[in-house]
Amino acid sequence: MIDREIKIHLEGIEKSFGEKVVLAGIDLDVYQGESLVLIGGSGTGKSVLLKHMIGLIKPDRGKVEVDGQDLATLDYREITDFRRHFGMAFQEGALFDSMTVWQNIAFPLQRARRPKKQIRDRVAHCLELVRLQDAEEKMPSELSGGMRRRVGFARAIALEPQILLLDEPTSGLDPVMSAVVDELILELKNDLDATTVTITHDMTSAFNIGDRIGMLDQGHLIALATPDEYKQLTDPRVRQFLHREAHGPLSKGL
Ligand SMILES: Nc1ncnc2c1ncn2[C@@H]1O[C@H](COP(=O)(O)OP(=O)(O)O)[C@@H](O)[C@H]1O
Ligand SMILES: [Mg+2]
Repeated sequence: MIDREIKIHLEGIEKSFGEKVVLAGIDLDVYQGESLVLIGGSGTGKSVLLKHMIGLIKPDRGKVEVDGQDLATLDYREITDFRRHFGMAFQEGALFDSMTVWQNIAFPLQRARRPKKQIRDRVAHCLELVRLQDAEEKMPSELSGGMRRRVGFARAIALEPQILLLDEPTSGLDPVMSAVVDELILELKNDLDATTVTITHDMTSAFNIGDRIGMLDQGHLIALATPDEYKQLTDPRVRQFLHREAHGPLSKGL
């Protein structure tokens, strides 16, 4: 990992909402081609941290660099361009309700002005990857939560992004679909050398896909280690979390 290029560099990130300190000084480098996983209790700032990486939230203090570019120096148009290198699937899901599944997945490809045939082929392929071939004409409102999540994931990978940010991509999915999504994340990493940052509650998934796993607690990154190293960590906050997630309802994908 040592010689690898840094893709995302977070330095001294502080963020509060009103009186509430959410991030209390986060330093984190994500390497080119790495799969980084973020874990931590609910409300510990994982989603907020992910949104900093793409400039959707600006830090109160600190710096975010992607490909060596300081996001604070980009104007609106530059940041819009910059986001095209990203695939993202956020927790809120945010599918376009007035578009079919097919149109939702085609959207980023159309915006990138890909040729029509390429769009048709790519959407068909993405639908197949998440096993939703039969749902292409459906509206989001007709889908289960798990299916919506898979559509969001398919849309995120449609452009074969260099950087993929995934906020709990497997929550609400049954174990079989979770494993499919994990496999797709690994394929993107291996086939495209994509850099991925994935938030998850699912420790099986974290250990499967993570080159490194970072744990957030009360605004601090309290651990950052490989899956093998994790098993050796003695910090009681880490141990307690691992134990809870391994036995709690969230590990069952509810
Ligand atoms: N846009 C916002 N405005 C105000 N508070 C927010 C906003 N986004 C997140 N928060 C608060 O920041 C804290 C961390 O949120 P979040 O990053 O979503 O947690 P999680 O680790 O569960 O993803 C929560 O207390 C949440 O209510
Ligand atoms: Mg979250």
